Amino acid sequence: MQLNTKKNSENFLESKNILVTGGAGFIGSALIRRLIETTNSKVFNLDKLSYAGNLNSINNLFKANNLLDEKRHELLKVDLTNFEKTYDAIMHADPDIVFHLAAESHVDSSIKNPKIFIQSNVFGTYNLLESIREHYQKLNPKRKESFKFHHISTDEVFGSLSLEGKFDEESQYKPQSPYSASKASSDHLVKAWGNTFDIPTLITNCSNNYGPWQHPEKLIPLAIKNALNEEQIPLYGNGENIRDWLYVEDHIDALLLVASIGIIGETYCIGGNSEIKNKDILLKICNLLEEIIPNQKGYSRLITHVKDRKGHDFRYAINNYKIKKNLGWEPKHNFEEGIRKTINWYIKYYES
Ligand SMILES: NC(=O)c1ccc[n+]([C@@H]2O[C@H](COP(=O)([O-])OP(=O)(O)OC[C@H]3O[C@@H](n4cnc5c(N)ncnc54)[C@H](O)[C@@H]3O)[C@@H](O)[C@H]2O)c1
Repeated sequence: MQLNTKKNSENFLESKNILVTGGAGFIGSALIRRLIETTNSKVFNLDKLSYAGNLNSINNLFKANNLLDEKRHELLKVDLTNFEKTYDAIMHADPDIVFHLAAESHVDSSIKNPKIFIQSNVFGTYNLLESIREHYQKLNPKRKESFKFHHISTDEVFGSLSLEGKFDEESQYKPQSPYSASKASSDHLVKAWGNTFDIPTLITNCSNNYGPWQHPEKLIPLAIKNALNEEQIPLYGNGENIRDWLYVEDHIDALLLVASIGIIGETYCIGGNSEIKNKDILLKICNLLEEIIPNQKGYSRLITHVKDRKGHDFRYAINNYKIKKNLGWEPKHNFEEGIRKTINWYIKYYES
């Protein structure tokens, strides 16, 4: 049977109170922009506004489209490590659906300062789950029946692959960095709260995202920014590490679909079918920039090998079979299309 996934996902997300944690970040803000543009729901954005959060990513949408009602987005400036404030925010938002994206997300920072990752990603998730547990118990039967808690996680919880094989929903948890260990812990907490307290949960584990509004600490926006500024573009070790890249809007399609028609209690792996070596990504970016803004000396001379990251995972790759077969999701962008859009977006962003 062919599922009409678009219609189903749109219907489920209508006329709801939707809480997005981490909604000022890269993926969370893309999710909020989509929810504001394609549903009539009220969106609560719980975010501590760390260095990684940028509200322009949402405010610009309202500026560009004055038909959109700004009151449909409400910021709750809260740090999940504070239980009382988290609890109050949940009671205020009174959510029908929660997308939990708030997390410290940069692997290098987790190596330098692991504590904040344990506090935000583990204790923060615990505080959120405990607040949601009370909220869920108070819901009337109709709202209880449709309530969902969707936890957004990473493929890094499964560890590192050699050149063979791909991760899927049955893969063992084998996190290797403080970041991935903290995300693995949060996945386990969500599963335990679903199992023990009957909270309707969903988990997605996604591969590396790229696209507009990503913080320039991450590989792709850093490379574009540095190339445009004629600064060195750092490449860890020999650059042979492989990631499975997904354009952020394709991730958002998957999240909306899973939240709408995914089976409660299940996990879905999401990947871009785009495995690329880090060194090839940087060359691709330099070549595309050369095409768009020709540079006499060429951009690739800026690529500079730097000391490898400690415990650097070699390869991640996702087998999309389950989400494709059961929910009908597939990435719409191949890497070539996604990276062109992304580069053009950053060029405009830095010009303005
Ligand atoms: N970026 C990727 O490639 C990728 C891939 C798979 C999964 N994920 C997951 O998706 C989620 C979002 O990733 P991202 O790249 O958008 O991250 P990001 O770093 O761009 O944004 C994270 C947001 O969370 C907020 N935040 C952090 N700690 C918080 C706390 N204690 N309380 C409240 N807010 C807090 C920050 O202020 C920020 O706005 C993360 O959970 C990450 O693990 C990311």
